[in-house]
Amino acid sequence: MSSRSEVALRLATSADAAALVNVFSTAIADQAPNFYTAAQCEAWAAALTSERAVELVSDHTTYVAAIDGTDEVVGFATFVAPDEFDMLYVYPDYVMQGIGTRLAALIEQHAQNLGVHELRAAVSDCARLAFESFGFRHERPHTTTVGDQSFSVTLMSKALG
Ligand SMILES: CC(C)(COP(=O)(O)OP(=O)(O)OC[C@H]1O[C@@H](n2cnc3c(N)ncnc32)[C@H](O)[C@@H]1OP(=O)(O)O)[C@@H](O)C(=O)NCCC(=O)NCCS
Repeated sequence: MSSRSEVALRLATSADAAALVNVFSTAIADQAPNFYTAAQCEAWAAALTSERAVELVSDHTTYVAAIDGTDEVVGFATFVAPDEFDMLYVYPDYVMQGIGTRLAALIEQHAQNLGVHELRAAVSDCARLAFESFGFRHERPHTTTVGDQSFSVTLMSKALG
């Protein structure tokens, strides 16, 4: 994939499910080893199955970032009602180009349109700086379980105007 193409955001469809799994597992394999053990990374990367990816699209609100004019997905974000910013993943070749920020802004806009006053997220150590830059503040440390692994994450929130 070229990292120089224009990227456009749109709502995900069920046809994007396989791409979501690929972005999810590749982003974790790239970023998580700096923060979590090999066993934790493995459990986390395996957590998004094709079935769950279809649910992200059908049962929740998921936006994708795709190379303009193509179906090549390079990032995605999911909102889970009533107030959770649940997922944010960007393909390694495309990080640090503002795509996460653009996806986060869409999630915020969607939540705001639903009348959400405070958006919440359980944020991995890999993404804490990014969420801080989106204006989220730390609530408290938290331990979450994925597969047979425990993870320290940070519960964060952002008041919406
Ligand atoms: C977190 C993630 C989605 C950020 O996506 P991105 O497209 O690189 O984000 P942006 O380019 O919009 O950057 C957002 C901000 O975070 C900062 N940032 C992003 N990744 C960073 C990193 N690894 N180290 C330091 N700062 C980082 C950027 O500098 C930017 O800050 P700024 O606006 O003050 O300059 C991406 O790194 C990722 O997929 N990580 C692995 C998966 C993950 O942990 N997801 C979250 C689960 S809770």
